[in-house]
Amino acid sequence: MPPKTAPRAGNADAPPEPKPELTLEDIPGIGATIAEKLREAGYTDLMELAVASPGDVAEAAEIGSPTAAKIIAEARRKADVGGFESGTALLERRKKLGRISTGAKSLDELLGGGVETQAITEFSGEFGSGKTQLAHQIAVNIQMPAAQGGLEGEVVYIDTESTFRPERIVDMATAAGLDPPTTLGHIHVARAFNSNHQMLLVQKAQELAREKRIRLLVVDSLTAHFRAEYLGRGELAPRQQQLNKHLHELLRFADTYNAAIVVTNQVSARPDILFGDPTRPIGGNIVAHAATYRIYLRKSKPPKRIARLIDSPNLPEGEAVFSLTGEGIRE
Ligand code: GTP
Ligand code: MG
Repeated sequence: MPPKTAPRAGNADAPPEPKPELTLEDIPGIGATIAEKLREAGYTDLMELAVASPGDVAEAAEIGSPTAAKIIAEARRKADVGGFESGTALLERRKKLGRISTGAKSLDELLGGGVETQAITEFSGEFGSGKTQLAHQIAVNIQMPAAQGGLEGEVVYIDTESTFRPERIVDMATAAGLDPPTTLGHIHVARAFNSNHQMLLVQKAQELAREKRIRLLVVDSLTAHFRAEYLGRGELAPRQQQLNKHLHELLRFADTYNAAIVVTNQVSARPDILFGDPTRPIGGNIVAHAATYRIYLRKSKPPKRIARLIDSPNLPEGEAVFSLTGEGIRE
Protein backbone atom coordinates (compact mmCIF):
# COMPACT_ATOMS: atom_id res chain seq x y z
CA MET A 1 0.00 0.00 0.00
CA PRO A 2 1.46 3.39 -0.88
CA PRO A 3 2.36 5.58 2.08
CA LYS A 4 -0.17 8.30 2.64
CA THR A 5 0.71 11.76 3.74
CA ALA A 6 -1.46 14.76 3.24
CA PRO A 7 0.25 17.06 0.75
CA ARG A 8 1.22 20.28 2.45
CA ALA A 9 0.83 23.72 1.05
CA GLY A 10 4.56 24.05 0.46
CA ASN A 11 4.83 20.76 -1.33
CA ALA A 12 4.37 22.27 -4.76
CA ASP A 13 6.60 21.37 -7.59
CA ALA A 14 9.87 23.16 -7.22
CA PRO A 15 12.17 23.01 -10.17
CA PRO A 16 15.82 22.80 -9.28
CA GLU A 17 17.56 26.12 -9.57
CA PRO A 18 21.07 25.30 -10.59
CA LYS A 19 23.51 28.17 -10.68
CA PRO A 20 26.30 27.90 -13.21
CA GLU A 21 29.32 27.23 -11.07
CA LEU A 22 32.84 28.39 -11.69
CA THR A 23 35.61 25.94 -11.00
CA LEU A 24 39.04 26.42 -9.46
CA GLU A 25 40.60 26.58 -12.90
CA ASP A 26 38.61 29.74 -13.62
CA ILE A 27 40.96 31.61 -11.30
CA PRO A 28 44.02 33.08 -13.01
CA GLY A 29 47.10 31.39 -11.61
CA ILE A 30 45.38 28.06 -11.00
CA GLY A 31 46.30 25.46 -13.55
CA ALA A 32 45.58 21.77 -13.56
CA THR A 33 48.39 20.89 -11.14
CA ILE A 34 47.54 23.46 -8.50
CA ALA A 35 43.86 22.72 -8.88
CA GLU A 36 44.49 19.07 -8.23
CA LYS A 37 46.55 19.77 -5.13
CA LEU A 38 43.88 22.11 -3.83
CA ARG A 39 41.13 19.59 -4.42
CA GLU A 40 43.14 16.91 -2.70
CA ALA A 41 43.43 19.21 0.29
CA GLY A 42 39.69 19.69 0.25
CA TYR A 43 39.36 23.02 -1.54
CA THR A 44 36.84 21.92 -4.08
CA ASP A 45 35.21 25.18 -5.07
CA LEU A 46 35.65 28.92 -5.11
CA MET A 47 33.75 29.50 -1.92
CA GLU A 48 36.11 27.27 0.02
CA LEU A 49 39.07 29.15 -1.37
CA ALA A 50 37.42 32.47 -0.69
CA VAL A 51 37.17 31.79 3.01
CA ALA A 52 40.55 30.05 3.36
CA SER A 53 43.69 31.57 4.86
CA PRO A 54 46.70 32.28 2.61
CA GLY A 55 48.92 30.10 4.79
CA ASP A 56 46.68 27.06 4.41
CA VAL A 57 46.28 27.53 0.67
CA ALA A 58 50.02 28.06 0.21
CA GLU A 59 50.73 24.85 2.04
CA ALA A 60 48.06 22.85 0.23
CA ALA A 61 49.08 23.99 -3.24
CA GLU A 62 52.80 24.22 -2.47
CA ILE A 63 52.95 27.81 -3.64
CA GLY A 64 54.16 31.03 -2.05
CA SER A 65 51.94 32.97 0.36
CA PRO A 66 51.68 36.06 -1.89
CA THR A 67 50.43 33.89 -4.76
CA ALA A 68 48.01 32.18 -2.40
CA ALA A 69 46.74 35.58 -1.25
CA LYS A 70 46.16 36.65 -4.85
CA ILE A 71 44.29 33.45 -5.60
CA ILE A 72 42.10 33.93 -2.54
CA ALA A 73 41.39 37.55 -3.45
CA GLU A 74 40.35 36.47 -6.92
CA ALA A 75 38.20 33.65 -5.54
CA ARG A 76 36.44 36.19 -3.30
CA ARG A 77 35.79 38.43 -6.25
CA LYS A 78 34.42 35.61 -8.36
CA ALA A 79 32.60 33.54 -5.76
CA ASP A 80 29.26 34.77 -4.66
CA VAL A 81 30.46 35.61 -1.17
CA GLY A 82 27.72 38.15 -0.60
CA GLY A 83 26.02 35.94 1.92
CA PHE A 84 22.98 38.17 2.22
CA GLU A 85 19.60 37.10 1.09
CA SER A 86 16.54 39.29 1.46
CA GLY A 87 13.81 38.17 3.81
CA THR A 88 11.48 38.00 0.83
CA ALA A 89 13.80 35.71 -1.11
CA LEU A 90 14.21 33.58 1.99
CA LEU A 91 10.47 33.31 2.43
CA GLU A 92 10.04 32.38 -1.23
CA ARG A 93 12.64 29.69 -0.84
CA ARG A 94 11.02 28.35 2.33
CA LYS A 95 7.68 28.19 0.52
CA LYS A 96 9.16 25.62 -1.83
CA LEU A 97 10.02 23.24 1.02
CA GLY A 98 9.01 19.74 0.06
CA ARG A 99 8.36 16.77 2.29
CA ILE A 100 8.85 13.08 1.70
CA SER A 101 6.96 10.41 3.56
CA THR A 102 9.03 7.77 5.35
CA GLY A 103 6.25 5.23 4.88
CA ALA A 104 5.20 5.39 8.55
CA LYS A 105 2.68 8.05 9.51
CA SER A 106 3.88 8.37 13.09
CA LEU A 107 7.47 8.88 11.97
CA ASP A 108 6.34 11.47 9.43
CA GLU A 109 4.51 13.31 12.18
CA LEU A 110 7.57 13.18 14.40
CA LEU A 111 9.45 14.91 11.58
CA GLY A 112 6.78 17.56 11.22
CA GLY A 113 5.23 16.02 8.10
CA GLY A 114 8.01 13.94 6.56
CA VAL A 115 11.63 14.35 5.58
CA GLU A 116 12.13 17.98 4.61
CA THR A 117 13.98 19.43 1.63
CA GLN A 118 16.58 22.17 2.18
CA ALA A 119 17.63 20.34 5.34
CA ILE A 120 19.77 17.50 6.60
CA THR A 121 17.96 14.67 8.37
CA GLU A 122 20.13 12.28 10.33
CA PHE A 123 19.12 8.74 11.26
CA SER A 124 21.39 7.32 13.91
CA GLY A 125 21.30 4.08 15.82
CA GLU A 126 23.08 0.81 16.41
CA PHE A 127 23.53 -1.90 13.75
CA GLY A 128 20.27 -3.29 12.48
CA SER A 129 18.25 -0.39 13.85
CA GLY A 130 16.87 0.34 10.38
CA LYS A 131 18.95 3.25 9.08
CA THR A 132 19.70 1.67 5.71
CA GLN A 133 16.13 0.40 5.32
CA LEU A 134 14.82 3.91 5.92
CA ALA A 135 17.25 5.34 3.40
CA HIS A 136 16.03 2.81 0.81
CA GLN A 137 12.39 3.55 1.58
CA ILE A 138 12.79 7.31 1.31
CA ALA A 139 14.64 6.84 -2.00
CA VAL A 140 11.56 5.02 -3.27
CA ASN A 141 8.94 7.29 -1.72
CA ILE A 142 10.40 10.49 -3.14
CA GLN A 143 9.50 9.18 -6.58
CA MET A 144 5.80 9.15 -5.78
CA PRO A 145 3.46 11.99 -6.62
CA ALA A 146 2.95 14.64 -3.94
CA ALA A 147 -0.45 13.25 -2.99
CA GLN A 148 1.29 10.05 -1.95
CA GLY A 149 4.09 11.65 -0.02
CA GLY A 150 6.66 12.07 -2.78
CA LEU A 151 8.16 14.83 -4.89
CA GLU A 152 8.47 12.95 -8.15
CA GLY A 153 12.19 13.36 -7.80
CA GLU A 154 15.32 11.38 -8.45
CA VAL A 155 17.96 10.32 -5.97
CA VAL A 156 21.70 10.37 -5.51
CA TYR A 157 22.68 7.58 -3.14
CA ILE A 158 26.21 7.64 -1.76
CA ASP A 159 26.86 4.19 -0.36
CA THR A 160 29.93 3.96 1.86
CA GLU A 161 29.34 0.50 3.30
CA SER A 162 28.19 -1.41 0.23
CA THR A 163 24.80 -2.01 1.76
CA PHE A 164 22.66 -0.60 -1.06
CA ARG A 165 20.46 -3.44 -2.31
CA PRO A 166 18.59 -3.00 -5.59
CA GLU A 167 16.48 -6.03 -4.64
CA ARG A 168 15.14 -4.12 -1.64
CA ILE A 169 14.24 -1.21 -3.91
CA VAL A 170 12.37 -3.64 -6.15
CA ASP A 171 10.45 -5.02 -3.13
CA MET A 172 9.58 -1.55 -1.89
CA ALA A 173 8.70 -0.16 -5.32
CA THR A 174 6.43 -3.12 -6.03
CA ALA A 175 4.68 -2.68 -2.69
CA ALA A 176 4.27 1.03 -3.41
CA GLY A 177 2.75 0.39 -6.85
CA LEU A 178 5.72 1.88 -8.69
CA ASP A 179 7.42 0.34 -11.70
CA PRO A 180 10.57 -1.31 -10.28
CA PRO A 181 12.93 -0.74 -13.25
CA THR A 182 11.93 2.93 -13.50
CA THR A 183 12.30 3.35 -9.76
CA LEU A 184 15.79 1.82 -9.82
CA GLY A 185 16.70 3.94 -12.83
CA HIS A 186 15.95 7.06 -10.81
CA ILE A 187 18.36 6.12 -8.04
CA HIS A 188 21.92 7.05 -8.95
CA VAL A 189 24.16 5.00 -6.69
CA ALA A 190 27.85 5.57 -6.11
CA ARG A 191 30.11 3.69 -3.78
CA ALA A 192 32.48 5.87 -1.79
CA PHE A 193 35.80 4.19 -1.16
CA ASN A 194 37.09 6.64 1.42
CA SER A 195 36.13 9.94 2.97
CA ASN A 196 37.79 12.04 0.25
CA HIS A 197 35.98 10.11 -2.40
CA GLN A 198 32.77 10.53 -0.44
CA MET A 199 33.24 14.31 -0.49
CA LEU A 200 34.12 14.29 -4.17
CA LEU A 201 30.89 12.45 -4.91
CA VAL A 202 28.93 15.41 -3.58
CA GLN A 203 30.58 17.51 -6.31
CA LYS A 204 29.65 14.87 -8.84
CA ALA A 205 26.11 14.92 -7.53
CA GLN A 206 25.95 18.62 -8.36
CA GLU A 207 26.81 17.87 -11.96
CA LEU A 208 24.06 15.29 -12.07
CA ALA A 209 21.58 17.63 -10.41
CA ARG A 210 22.05 20.14 -13.21
CA GLU A 211 20.63 17.60 -15.64
CA LYS A 212 18.23 15.59 -13.54
CA ARG A 213 15.58 16.36 -11.03
CA ILE A 214 17.57 15.23 -8.00
CA ARG A 215 15.54 16.00 -4.90
CA LEU A 216 17.18 13.60 -2.45
CA LEU A 217 20.78 12.90 -1.59
CA VAL A 218 21.46 9.98 0.72
CA VAL A 219 24.78 9.37 2.47
CA ASP A 220 24.78 5.95 4.12
CA SER A 221 26.90 6.14 6.24
CA LEU A 222 27.98 9.74 6.81
CA THR A 223 30.64 8.96 9.39
CA ALA A 224 31.95 5.42 8.84
CA HIS A 225 34.90 6.37 6.62
CA PHE A 226 35.81 9.37 8.72
CA ARG A 227 35.74 7.26 11.82
CA ALA A 228 37.90 4.53 10.28
CA GLU A 229 40.45 6.88 8.76
CA TYR A 230 41.03 9.37 11.51
CA LEU A 231 42.10 7.27 14.44
CA GLY A 232 43.58 8.49 17.64
CA ARG A 233 43.13 11.61 19.68
CA GLY A 234 45.39 13.84 17.64
CA GLU A 235 43.24 13.28 14.58
CA LEU A 236 39.95 14.28 16.07
CA ALA A 237 40.32 17.93 15.07
CA PRO A 238 41.18 17.25 11.41
CA ARG A 239 38.42 14.69 11.24
CA GLN A 240 35.84 17.11 12.57
CA GLN A 241 37.10 19.78 10.20
CA GLN A 242 36.64 17.54 7.17
CA LEU A 243 33.30 16.31 8.38
CA ASN A 244 32.19 19.90 8.86
CA LYS A 245 33.20 20.74 5.33
CA HIS A 246 31.36 17.69 4.02
CA LEU A 247 28.20 18.64 5.89
CA HIS A 248 28.35 22.19 4.57
CA GLU A 249 28.69 20.94 1.05
CA LEU A 250 25.65 18.79 1.64
CA LEU A 251 23.71 21.75 3.01
CA ARG A 252 24.69 23.80 0.01
CA PHE A 253 23.40 21.02 -2.24
CA ALA A 254 20.14 21.00 -0.28
CA ASP A 255 19.70 24.75 -0.76
CA THR A 256 20.71 24.89 -4.40
CA TYR A 257 18.52 22.05 -5.57
CA ASN A 258 15.75 22.21 -2.97
CA ALA A 259 16.78 18.68 -2.07
CA ALA A 260 16.43 16.61 1.07
CA ILE A 261 19.65 15.26 2.55
CA VAL A 262 19.35 12.00 4.47
CA VAL A 263 22.42 10.79 6.31
CA THR A 264 22.90 7.79 8.55
CA ASN A 265 25.21 7.67 11.50
CA GLN A 266 26.44 4.98 13.81
CA VAL A 267 26.56 5.40 17.52
CA SER A 268 29.51 5.01 19.81
CA ALA A 269 29.61 3.95 23.42
CA ARG A 270 29.79 6.63 26.08
CA PRO A 271 31.62 5.11 28.97
CA ASP A 272 30.64 8.03 31.19
CA ILE A 273 26.93 7.20 31.21
CA LEU A 274 25.65 4.90 33.92
CA PHE A 275 21.92 5.38 33.47
CA GLY A 276 19.92 5.74 30.30
CA ASP A 277 21.18 5.07 26.82
CA PRO A 278 24.94 4.53 26.85
CA THR A 279 25.43 5.46 23.21
CA ARG A 280 25.50 8.62 21.15
CA PRO A 281 25.81 9.46 17.43
CA ILE A 282 29.30 9.96 16.06
CA GLY A 283 30.55 13.33 14.93
CA GLY A 284 29.64 15.21 18.07
CA ASN A 285 28.67 18.84 17.89
CA ILE A 286 29.64 19.17 14.23
CA VAL A 287 26.86 16.84 13.11
CA ALA A 288 24.58 18.19 15.81
CA HIS A 289 24.86 21.70 14.40
CA ALA A 290 24.58 20.82 10.73
CA ALA A 291 21.70 18.34 10.93
CA THR A 292 18.32 20.00 11.09
CA TYR A 293 16.49 16.87 12.19
CA ARG A 294 18.14 14.13 14.19
CA ILE A 295 16.32 10.86 14.64
CA TYR A 296 17.71 8.25 16.98
CA LEU A 297 16.55 4.71 16.26
CA ARG A 298 16.46 1.78 18.60
CA LYS A 299 15.27 -1.76 18.37
CA SER A 300 12.09 -2.90 20.00
CA LYS A 301 10.12 -6.13 19.79
CA PRO A 302 10.77 -7.26 16.16
CA PRO A 303 9.90 -6.00 13.64
CA LYS A 304 9.29 -2.79 15.60
CA ARG A 305 11.67 0.09 15.90
CA ILE A 306 11.41 3.19 18.02
CA ALA A 307 12.42 6.55 16.60
CA ARG A 308 13.16 9.49 18.86
CA LEU A 309 13.61 13.04 17.71
CA ILE A 310 16.63 14.51 19.45
CA ASP A 311 17.49 18.17 19.94
CA SER A 312 15.24 19.74 17.33
CA PRO A 313 14.99 23.53 17.46
CA ASN A 314 11.44 23.78 16.16
CA LEU A 315 9.65 20.50 16.83
CA PRO A 316 8.52 18.96 20.08
CA GLU A 317 10.62 16.03 21.22
CA GLY A 318 8.83 12.73 20.99
CA GLU A 319 8.89 9.16 19.85
CA ALA A 320 7.33 7.17 17.04
CA VAL A 321 7.05 3.43 16.56
CA PHE A 322 7.30 1.86 13.12
CA SER A 323 7.92 -1.58 11.62
CA LEU A 324 10.57 -2.94 9.27
CA THR A 325 8.59 -5.27 7.03
CA GLY A 326 9.29 -7.15 3.83
CA GLU A 327 7.41 -4.42 2.00
CA GLY A 328 9.46 -1.72 3.67
CA ILE A 329 8.85 0.81 6.42
CA ARG A 330 5.33 0.68 7.76
CA GLU A 331 3.27 2.15 10.54
P1 GTP B 1 24.06 -0.90 10.23
O1 GTP B 1 24.23 -0.32 8.87
O2 GTP B 1 24.64 -2.23 10.38
O3 GTP B 1 24.51 0.03 11.33
O4 GTP B 1 22.49 -1.12 10.48
P2 GTP B 1 21.22 -0.34 9.91
O5 GTP B 1 20.69 0.54 10.96
O6 GTP B 1 21.50 0.24 8.60
O7 GTP B 1 20.20 -1.53 9.75
P3 GTP B 1 19.34 -1.92 8.49
O8 GTP B 1 18.55 -0.79 8.00
O9 GTP B 1 20.21 -2.63 7.53
O10 GTP B 1 18.30 -2.90 9.17
C1 GTP B 1 18.46 -4.26 9.13
C2 GTP B 1 17.13 -4.83 9.57
O11 GTP B 1 16.13 -4.52 8.59
C3 GTP B 1 17.17 -6.31 9.64
O12 GTP B 1 17.58 -6.71 10.93
C4 GTP B 1 15.75 -6.67 9.35
O13 GTP B 1 15.01 -6.58 10.53
C5 GTP B 1 15.26 -5.58 8.45
N1 GTP B 1 15.27 -6.02 7.06
C6 GTP B 1 16.25 -5.83 6.15
N2 GTP B 1 15.93 -6.39 4.97
C7 GTP B 1 14.72 -6.95 5.14
C8 GTP B 1 13.85 -7.68 4.30
O14 GTP B 1 14.14 -7.94 3.14
N3 GTP B 1 12.67 -8.08 4.83
C9 GTP B 1 12.33 -7.80 6.12
N4 GTP B 1 11.15 -8.22 6.59
N5 GTP B 1 13.13 -7.12 6.94
C10 GTP B 1 14.31 -6.70 6.47
MG1 MG C 1 23.17 0.31 7.37
